[in-house]
Amino acid sequence: MTKAALSPQEPQFSPARAELDRLWARGRAFLGTEFAIMGGGMTWVSERSLVAAISNAGGFGVIACGAMEPDRLAEEIAATAALTGKPFGVNLITMHPKLDMLIDVCAEARVTHIVLAGGLPSSAAVRKIKDSGAKTLCFAPALVLARKLLRMGADALVIEGMEAGGHTGPVTTSVLAQEILPVITEAPVFVAGGIGRGEAMASYLELGAAGVQLGTRFVCATESIAHPRFKQAFIRAEARDAVLSVQVDPRFPVIPVRAIANPGTRRFVEIQRALIAKVDQGLLDQKAAQLEIEHFWAGALRRAVIDGDVENGSLMAGQSVGMVRAEQPVAEILAELIAQAEEALGRRREARR
Ligand SMILES: Cc1cc2nc3c(=O)[nH]c(=O)nc-3n(C[C@H](O)[C@H](O)[C@H](O)COP(=O)(O)O)c2cc1C
Repeated sequence: MTKAALSPQEPQFSPARAELDRLWARGRAFLGTEFAIMGGGMTWVSERSLVAAISNAGGFGVIACGAMEPDRLAEEIAATAALTGKPFGVNLITMHPKLDMLIDVCAEARVTHIVLAGGLPSSAAVRKIKDSGAKTLCFAPALVLARKLLRMGADALVIEGMEAGGHTGPVTTSVLAQEILPVITEAPVFVAGGIGRGEAMASYLELGAAGVQLGTRFVCATESIAHPRFKQAFIRAEARDAVLSVQVDPRFPVIPVRAIANPGTRRFVEIQRALIAKVDQGLLDQKAAQLEIEHFWAGALRRAVIDGDVENGSLMAGQSVGMVRAEQPVAEILAELIAQAEEALGRRREARR
């Protein structure tokens, strides 16, 4: 199959498209969308414009709440709903101090899907979301936790490998997929991390995924409000440039975050070394040094995404950044992914004949 086969006269007659629709039927039904492709909630990036564009183009946009206050989230949900009549979700960070109020805001706005990110959620949070009538999606970083989350009432899971942009776990997407997809069949599982092309999307669906979640690939969408300099950094970067945050000393833990290396990431290492030297010389206590390390990146994602400070800000990006080559409308990105998935499925179909 080629992109031309997506022309309006043909799509339903393409056997590869029929195969793709069969593979992700469960994900489409769960999300209520044409494609089982979620736009991963990205703090500062996934706001009304990008989220509505993804949903309007047939995917599933997800608002990133990040550190927003409840009023701001309510405003963002209303603004997104004004731009699309299609389904979209909200990504909430479990350690947000006002998580309960944020869930109330979502319930009031009749948000249909909530993604709980940033650590294992409490049973109470999952129950509260279910009581509001929304579906809960949770990140499962390992098989035992996948089972636990489903027992707690999660309606679907996202497995995200270490290739992903932003906060990430220690295991690759391909290993998580092999460990979890064949075993967890009672609920839809969406695969995230390192997906840049439709062929990869098709393989995860063939392994049993209900759908996929992409973040990095959507940052340079025309509809994304990310600063032109942030987008330029993505377009220039290769896979190897999206590196994990460096921890200098095990006594001073650093949260693993994948971002494009820049002068800020280099300064982060120097500052850790300087602080640790002070602690070793008895000039600073360990707790104060740890706090300084943790505060280093405060506000850094906003500085990069909104202000365009690509030198000192945080350029969170996944390894799939190497496959981001240009600014493109969301509809074109989705059409490309689907054409590539169809082509891969079509080739496998031919080979079976
Ligand atoms: C700039 C940026 C910000 C992100 N912020 C969040 C966030 O606030 N919450 C979250 O659950 N995931 C966040 N993510 C992860 C994405 O939602 C998504 O799961 C991930 O990007 C998928 O992997 P990929 O980057 O390889 O496509 C972020 C990713 C990026 C690149």
